[in-house]
Amino acid sequence: MTQRPAARVYRPTVRNIALLASRLRAGELVAVPTETVYGLAANALDTRACRQIFRAKNRPANDPLIVHVYALKDVEPLCHPNEAALLLAKHFWPGPLTLVLPKTDLIPAIVTSGGSSVAIRMPQHPVFRRLLKQTGLPLAAPSANPFGYISPTSAEHVRENLGSKISHILDGGQSRIGLESTIVDLRDPLAPRLLRPGVISAQEIAAVLGRPVSVVKKAGSPHGKGLIAPGMLQRHYSPRTPVVLHDAIETIGEKDEAFIFMRKPSGRQPPNVFWLDNRGRLSGVARRLFSTLREVDAQRFRQIHIETASGDPLAEAINDRLRRAAAR
Ligand code: TXA
Ligand code: MG
Repeated sequence: MTQRPAARVYRPTVRNIALLASRLRAGELVAVPTETVYGLAANALDTRACRQIFRAKNRPANDPLIVHVYALKDVEPLCHPNEAALLLAKHFWPGPLTLVLPKTDLIPAIVTSGGSSVAIRMPQHPVFRRLLKQTGLPLAAPSANPFGYISPTSAEHVRENLGSKISHILDGGQSRIGLESTIVDLRDPLAPRLLRPGVISAQEIAAVLGRPVSVVKKAGSPHGKGLIAPGMLQRHYSPRTPVVLHDAIETIGEKDEAFIFMRKPSGRQPPNVFWLDNRGRLSGVARRLFSTLREVDAQRFRQIHIETASGDPLAEAINDRLRRAAAR
């Protein structure tokens, strides 16, 4: 196996963005900041470039990619949008919402794992938007983590995990939201389905569409034909350390176990106690969830105990990721 040069991390200067846009047009991979999590981007119209994404992530070929666009006019050549899709796009884009729609012939089979639908999103992160604009192409980008591991929310996370597999990482700071986008299947505009919860809730989507959104609870096995969104695989976003979930953590146990609270517990805390947001605000919890899991995972505790979230709809998306982190 040939050793690739270690990845370079680029600050988002005008010059670097122009350089990385040319690298993308030449068929190379670039890790990019988004408001949700970092993505590993390639020209979505180039099969060879997209194949490298699967290789770098060690991602199975039957797990399709999300295609990112700069503007609404860029959507039409890639898929067949319906009125429900346009309504959601106008309301939530640019932002953390991905729409699944029937694809056109322009999208290569590798992007959709041979399927007839494509997942599309217009991201909001200003640095990624500048890159998309300059590249002038739709960019396929899954989260920039090795398949099955925790998604990255900083350039440093990407470098740690994929630094020997890719050459370019664009640094746009810490991801503001911290959880992957909400995915809605809109192939049938009269029966929208939530495939993956995110900060944009099923309730908000239902309110905009004026009709209920069904929630898909479980996907099939990755090898079966029941597969809908492998992001819904049971084990996903997992630390190496076993994770146990609790409605509420009552007592702090052994030193070799970690305890992660939603909010800062009062008083001085031992080094095996962590929290996600000082005041327990769920937006802060979401933002720091993956980086905290990484940090705690690196300390090689025997087990990680985590409280689940409750309250507003964002708790649903947080608990979804916690359940997957805990699934073995
Ligand atoms: O926030 C996000 O969505 C991030 C950033 C980088 O945009 N991307 C992300 O991509 O989370 P990824 O590949 O880690 O998760 C995308 C999920 C996968 O579970 C995949 O199965 C699903 O989207 N997906 C992609 N195309 C699909 C399709 N045509 N139908 C159903 N699910 C699809
Ligand atoms: Mg992912």
